Amino acid sequence: MPQINKITDNFGAEVSGLELSKPMSQEDIDLVKGLIDQYAVLIIKSGEAVDDESLTRFTSNFGEFHKSITANRMDMTRRLKGDVLSDISNVGKEGDILSREDPRRIQQLANLIWHTDNSFRKPAGLYTFLAARIVPPADGETEFADTRAAYDSLSDEMKAKIADLQVEHSLAHSRFLVGTEKVFDAEEAKRFPATLQPLVRRQELTGRKALYIGSHAWRVVGWNYEDSQALLGELLEISTRPEFVFRHKWTVGDVAMWDNRVSLHRGLPFDDVNHRRDLRR
Ligand code: OGA
Ligand code: MN
Repeated sequence: MPQINKITDNFGAEVSGLELSKPMSQEDIDLVKGLIDQYAVLIIKSGEAVDDESLTRFTSNFGEFHKSITANRMDMTRRLKGDVLSDISNVGKEGDILSREDPRRIQQLANLIWHTDNSFRKPAGLYTFLAARIVPPADGETEFADTRAAYDSLSDEMKAKIADLQVEHSLAHSRFLVGTEKVFDAEEAKRFPATLQPLVRRQELTGRKALYIGSHAWRVVGWNYEDSQALLGELLEISTRPEFVFRHKWTVGDVAMWDNRVSLHRGLPFDDVNHRRDLRR
């Protein structure tokens, strides 16, 4: 029987006792679906490193895959098989640590900015599953922010102001926040044109509303860029107040699962030119 430990009252729960190395029972799938709607982020403590096949099989219980966005990058050799796994690591093909200037390393600096995965795609990202295979001796945690609680905390004036706003989400925008053409090239801009997303999303099952923001959020429809960023920045600041955030310290075997429609996340830096961190998404 899986055991559940809340991380905060209604955001984040640890789940142990699920066996990811075997196909899930329908009962366990339904349990996870119920928990993710309530807690938005689950940390599944599997106890031992989860291999790529088990991760992919577990994930396939919850919807269809997005292809990894780096699947088409010609300047990055893929270390992992297939095109659904994203290599969230600083590890090269030979187990080496990526050099400071490696495009794969630089591209991943984007993960250090608050965001929600694949908000620039249609359909937008639903769940992310991130499995820890190697963790550094210090730092490199991941933080999660509850944008439902953040929405609830807004004034009635703000709720009315944002109720019907639509926002363009763009991969080019979040990459621009990080840096240079190393991070995002013209080919990618063609592959990933901006998409329109509501600023406020309503969670179907619970009826709760959540802010849908983060680094891909670019422009409010009908507004200029500067005013858009002023509003989006204000909402981001509220959403990432300490009372809405928890920090997860990784242990090998952890699989984090989160609902991208109602949360934000970011990685924290670590000494990535001296230590390995290998996560599979
Ligand atoms: C991700 C991500 C953060 C981290 O994989 O989507 O944002 O801590 N990762 O690695
Ligand atoms: Mn992410």
